[in-house]
Amino acid sequence: MGRGEGMRVLGIDTSCDETSVALVERGRILASKVLGQDALHRPFGGVVPEIAARAHAEKFLPALAACLGEGPAPDAIAVTNRPGLVGPLLVGLSAAKALAFAKGLPIVGVHHLEAHVAAAYLLDPPPEPPFVALIASGGHTLLYDVPERGRYVRLGQTQDDAAGECFDKIAALLGLPYPGGPSIEKAAKDGDPRAVDLPRPMRDDPSDDFSFSGLKTAMLYRLKGQDARRKDPTKGPVAVADLAASAQEAIADILSAKAVRAAKRLSRKRLVIGGGVAANTRLRELVAERGRAAGIAVSIPPRSLCTDNAAMVAARGSELLEAGKRDGLDLDADPYSE
Ligand code: KG4
Ligand code: ZN
Repeated sequence: MGRGEGMRVLGIDTSCDETSVALVERGRILASKVLGQDALHRPFGGVVPEIAARAHAEKFLPALAACLGEGPAPDAIAVTNRPGLVGPLLVGLSAAKALAFAKGLPIVGVHHLEAHVAAAYLLDPPPEPPFVALIASGGHTLLYDVPERGRYVRLGQTQDDAAGECFDKIAALLGLPYPGGPSIEKAAKDGDPRAVDLPRPMRDDPSDDFSFSGLKTAMLYRLKGQDARRKDPTKGPVAVADLAASAQEAIADILSAKAVRAAKRLSRKRLVIGGGVAANTRLRELVAERGRAAGIAVSIPPRSLCTDNAAMVAARGSELLEAGKRDGLDLDADPYSE
């Protein structure tokens, strides 16, 4: 079988803290399993790489069995090998190589952020390039131009914290549990997004770059005044719900404004969003609203395809396989890959 599009591709992702395996054929998800580890990392307020790697080693075979079971066998393997946490990446990569060797299957390494874009190809109907894609996750925030199938041109990225990291750090300041994004979204439901006037760093900067660390610091000062050692940060006239809603509004405003502006500038008529932060309801609303106002169609995958999953890795892998790309069993992890 030559063309990846017709192949049944086994996707594997262990780049951060979800152990995920999926089987995808012609943009259809035949099986998908995502085993999370939030409870293991919650006491530490963030992902502990060593704990994540060990948990992947324990959860990989159950995830694989849940996907393959009695179902059809894969024709090829696509595995995230970059970027990510090195220990976690190596668990999925070693398993993928062992499977490829044992079953005599071709293997291809996938870039995790390109896979977040390719998650949109699992929509029915899939978006057709050219389009601009906004990817916002726990470790990355960036804009891609996708001029044609298989080409991912980076337009800009965060200069400091990622949008998801900003959610996570502000949640920690507010005393909300990890992971912060979903906690802030929940707390924000009863809050007023205009309650606190927070800055919008780099929103109006002409570049496609982002900056979120100032937002976190603004929240810190808002909570603690000029004394960062104060013990009772959230006591005061503004409720946690209002602070959460204001933070969520600021992040969604910056992301949606910059994504729509990049699409307009490049005369792209479509915008795709992805990454864990794209699970956020307010961001989804604002991107849809601003896209509509600018005459730009918006493709938003379901939440389960925005947060880390292996179906998106299989989708990106299918593109690479179709283009004739194959890697050898010497494929290595590249944790800091651009
Ligand atoms: O893409 P992802 O699942 O993993 C990485 O590759 O990082 O993204 C995880 C990030 C976390 O920072 C998490 O707080 C954020 O996505 N996130 C959200 C929501 N769900 C997950 N942020 C805002 N609202 C959400 N509903
Ligand atoms: Zn991710």
